[in-house]
Amino acid sequence: RPAKEERDHVCGIAQRILEKIRQGGKAEGMVVGSIARHTWVKGDRDLDVFMLFDPSLSREQLEAEGLALARSIAAAFTDNYHEKYAEHPYINATIDDVDVDLVPCYKVESAARIQSAVDRTPFHTRYITEKINGLIDDVLLLKRFAKAGGIYGSDQMTEGFSGYLCELLVLHYGGFTPLLNAAAEWKPRTLIDVENHVAKEFDEPLVMIDPVDPKRNVAAAVSVDRMAEFVELARGYLESPSAAFFELPQEPPIAREDLEKLLDGRGTSLFAITFATPPYIEEIVVPQLKRSTLAISEFLERNGFAVHHADYRMGKEESLILVELLVSRLPAIRSHAGPPVWNRVNAEKFRAKYLMSDLPGPYIVNGRYETEVPREFRHAGDLLRSEGMLQVSLGKHVRQAFENGWKVHEGPACWSPGFASFIGG
Ligand code: CTP
Ligand code: MN
Repeated sequence: RPAKEERDHVCGIAQRILEKIRQGGKAEGMVVGSIARHTWVKGDRDLDVFMLFDPSLSREQLEAEGLALARSIAAAFTDNYHEKYAEHPYINATIDDVDVDLVPCYKVESAARIQSAVDRTPFHTRYITEKINGLIDDVLLLKRFAKAGGIYGSDQMTEGFSGYLCELLVLHYGGFTPLLNAAAEWKPRTLIDVENHVAKEFDEPLVMIDPVDPKRNVAAAVSVDRMAEFVELARGYLESPSAAFFELPQEPPIAREDLEKLLDGRGTSLFAITFATPPYIEEIVVPQLKRSTLAISEFLERNGFAVHHADYRMGKEESLILVELLVSRLPAIRSHAGPPVWNRVNAEKFRAKYLMSDLPGPYIVNGRYETEVPREFRHAGDLLRSEGMLQVSLGKHVRQAFENGWKVHEGPACWSPGFASFIGG
């Protein structure tokens, strides 16, 4: 729990910001998020202040006026602020050690009438504030439990549990332990519909119908792996509860020599592809990295290199795609499938063409011709450095980054100080 000084400090800043918004007279100020609901974990100083504008404003007006107001408010407290972009732009400022988001939104009548995604947030705050009494400690426990387990956050990289989802889970099950008891039995396609809105169908593994907007799944970001990790953590905790479940993880960076030893022992081949991080926000870049990682793995597989594991990280300056292969060197030949022998015209063309080459074959296998041809890439590193990489379906901005060049590192050379924790983890 945050101590009284922390609460007073953060609430004091919130009051001063609300006062400034009131003086401006252009919008109504509202503190939302975990600070408004008293569900913030000690030390997490993130203050969400929304500025509610008249819904008759056009989107362009809201963006322009909202941003201007947010900027002038931030400037009244600090020089340390900058523009950020979610569904529309807002201002992020650091005021006395507190990370403050100043977000313009529409003041709509009900969450079903929202005009932009952030318009729901004030409704979440009213809903949770009304019901959460008596369960605040349970929410704090759950948030810290999820953070410690590495599954807190609905961002693209984590694909886990948002603060609002944690609050709704505690409300629905009536506490931290009852939630864990239930989660220990969860299966994919678990549906929770607190307000019994019989809503539309969702196909995500975990579905929590938003009580203020039945068209939305609050758990949409939760991947099947994060959900399974939560189930595993719940079972582990119920079996032997301990404070260790609330201790924040520390992924110790692996040392280069240890990576070398590890790879020797595993006998696998590790490759790292690095390139300049595209200059866009995480919500745009991370899904492209995910897609690119999959596409590069398929490219390797198509060329005969079996992929054991693949993962990606978006760094500040440089991003990385890491692939662990079962083999990195292949023979000089590969087999090439031809037509069925029964297809006389094509079969004869195929046979004539490959009989003339120095290679053995063609053979007949299951009624079809098959022959051997030279393999274009015998080494995975050459394939990963080849122009063919630009033909795989990288996302738009990742492709632009690749067009300016990418590097391929092999074995212990994959190690770099910035990615040592990720590689070790
Ligand atoms: N929100 C949402 N869906 C998300 C992220 C945020 O609806 N995926 C809304 C919620 O109403 C949330 C508010 O935006 O309460 C503020 O977001 P954030 O600061 O990320 O969450 P908090 O609930 O404040 O939790 P934390 O303690 O982590 O700050
Ligand atoms: Mn918050």
